[in-house]
Amino acid sequence: MSKDLDVEQAAQATMTTTSIEVKAEPVVEPTTTAAGAAAAAMPATNVDKGSKAPEEQKQQPVAAAATTTITTIVEQVQPTVAAVVEATANKGDNKSNMDPALINFKVLYVLTQLCGLTTIVLVGTWIGQHFGGLGGTDNPRLEFNWHPLLMTIGFIYLYGNSILVYRGFRTTRKKTLKLTHAGIHLAAFVLTVIALKTVFDSHNLVDPPIPNMYSLHSWLGLSAVIIFCLQYVAGFMAFLVPGMRENYKIALMPMHIYFGLFGFTLAIASAVMGLTEKAIFTLGANYSTLPAAAVLTNIIGVLYVIFGALVVYLATEPSYKRKALPEDTALLSGPVNE
Ligand code: HEM
Ligand code: HEM
Repeated sequence: MSKDLDVEQAAQATMTTTSIEVKAEPVVEPTTTAAGAAAAAMPATNVDKGSKAPEEQKQQPVAAAATTTITTIVEQVQPTVAAVVEATANKGDNKSNMDPALINFKVLYVLTQLCGLTTIVLVGTWIGQHFGGLGGTDNPRLEFNWHPLLMTIGFIYLYGNSILVYRGFRTTRKKTLKLTHAGIHLAAFVLTVIALKTVFDSHNLVDPPIPNMYSLHSWLGLSAVIIFCLQYVAGFMAFLVPGMRENYKIALMPMHIYFGLFGFTLAIASAVMGLTEKAIFTLGANYSTLPAAAVLTNIIGVLYVIFGALVVYLATEPSYKRKALPEDTALLSGPVNE
């Protein structure tokens, strides 16, 4: 049914009520029964102007009573019509009915995506403009450049987005969300493994080789990857493979959420360290003069931190949590907590 039709019908219903009320007042009956509907929609002064004929003037007290009654009815009816019109106008308008918390969520979610995508573009620009672009195993120095790019796409952007999938697509069935969550994490993992291979190659294939795993960046970075792998296996076994007992799933969920976010935060911290390390290795003492490459390095670092902060906020704010859909329980074998 169209919005206009709703309004029309609601107004007609109100008019009918007006006409019945007027009939109940015998003095008004000759003037208003026929014109009741029109009069209800007209200001009271118009009704006064229409009562100038001599016969009507003879009935002035009657007309005055009618005018007063109609004025009262108009006053009563107008707010009702206004309320009906407003209610009907709001009916199809989801935004005005939307939970204010979700409007905030949408704005921050879009901001998070813009921040993440800008970071990827800037890392690409940083590599292309200042470090000679990308290369294969025949050029280990350029092969290294895959490392920050793929880590940013996989272990930062996809990792963060996979965490947000339940809240960002809250009207999608839980089963689909679980598969998407596991699928995006898997894609993040594949890119992370390739990113690790390129950095190890860049150390091992040069002459003389560069030692592996000596820096704090490499220790914390690899720890984040190991936590991610354990988390994936545990999440997969607990929530995707059937058979896990309900009370175990319920007990595991808070740990799953905590370690998921902890691993993500560690990834952000590692990326910032790796970035600083690379800037110091390549710019050396020049870093302090803040050349263009250094400015870009710092901007990328700030964006990593903002992206991380937004993802953690969106994933932990209780009012943004996805509410179970009726079909989650109807179509799944397990409870909503699963
Ligand atoms: C969060 C994602 C990241 C992880 C998990 C990570 C992990 C690692 C690991 C495990 C190594 C050791 C490789 C070896 O010893 O042969 C390494 C090396 C390196 N990474 Fe990253 N990295 C990440 C992001 C970055 C970023 C964004 C940069 C920026 C350029 C970067 C720069 C470096 C550099 C320069 C090295 C060689 C020096 C060293 O071993 O510390 N990394 N990374
Ligand atoms: C490294 C891999 C994983 C990480 C880092 C991770 C991380 C997270 C995080 C942070 C949350 C909280 C999201 C929120 O509250 O909105 C979450 C929720 C969840 N994850 Fe994972 N997860 C991983 C793998 C998996 C896998 C493989 C599954 C199996 C399907 C899974 C199933 C779930 C479920 C069912 C929820 C609950 C969503 C809810 O209703 O609030 N996770 N995960």
